[in-house]
Amino acid sequence: GVTAKIAPSMLSSDFANLASEAERMLNCGADWLHMDIMIDDRYEMGRHFVPNLTIGAPVIESLRKHTKAYLDCHLMVTNPLDYVEPLGKAGASDNWQELVQRIKSKGMRPGVALKPGTSVEEVYPLVEGANPVEMVLVMTVEPGFGGQKFMPEMMDKVRTLRNRYPSLDIEVDGGLGPSTIAEAASAGANCIVAGSSVFGAPEPAHVISLMRKSVED
Ligand code: DX5
Ligand code: ZN
Repeated sequence: GVTAKIAPSMLSSDFANLASEAERMLNCGADWLHMDIMIDDRYEMGRHFVPNLTIGAPVIESLRKHTKAYLDCHLMVTNPLDYVEPLGKAGASDNWQELVQRIKSKGMRPGVALKPGTSVEEVYPLVEGANPVEMVLVMTVEPGFGGQKFMPEMMDKVRTLRNRYPSLDIEVDGGLGPSTIAEAASAGANCIVAGSSVFGAPEPAHVISLMRKSVED
């Protein structure tokens, strides 16, 4: 079976106080901290992967000095391979097998994210291969910003994945909160990213526990 992982998206936190925001979320019961990494690595082509910029490896490295938390890094970049080494702390390629291998060899868990326009079949080879990804993230908004509206039509992808892969970690990201968690949980999502609904709540712990319950029921 799968267990619930509630991952507040630090994109909605006060970036100037990242360490204390992280600690606050962990004290509120967060399992993971979701780190939205948006880097303009395609400037020479006049196009970004997402229309925003956030943080990169230097900030992850700084945060790591303040917390032992599992950092659920959501890379919204054109060339993810370039960031494996720097994010791993302790390389450009279209070859996902190499990427998965590299992530694992650095002691991290690889996942793949599906933008709303990408069909679910595209991830089958990545989940079923000899060297599989360990999580599929189904985006429930167009990536780039917090505070957008949940896209319920993405739940077909979640149901399809859950039927096909009973023990896969399936994550949803975008517009999740008390009013949308039931739909996502019943479709089969077990890893829940939530930014504005958690950080905007008077009692984040309450929102986190409510979402956890929804997944576990
Ligand atoms: C958007 C990011 C999300 C974002 C979610 O590209 O991937 O993680 O922070 O924010 P909410 O929960 O407010 O939709
Ligand atoms: Zn995200």
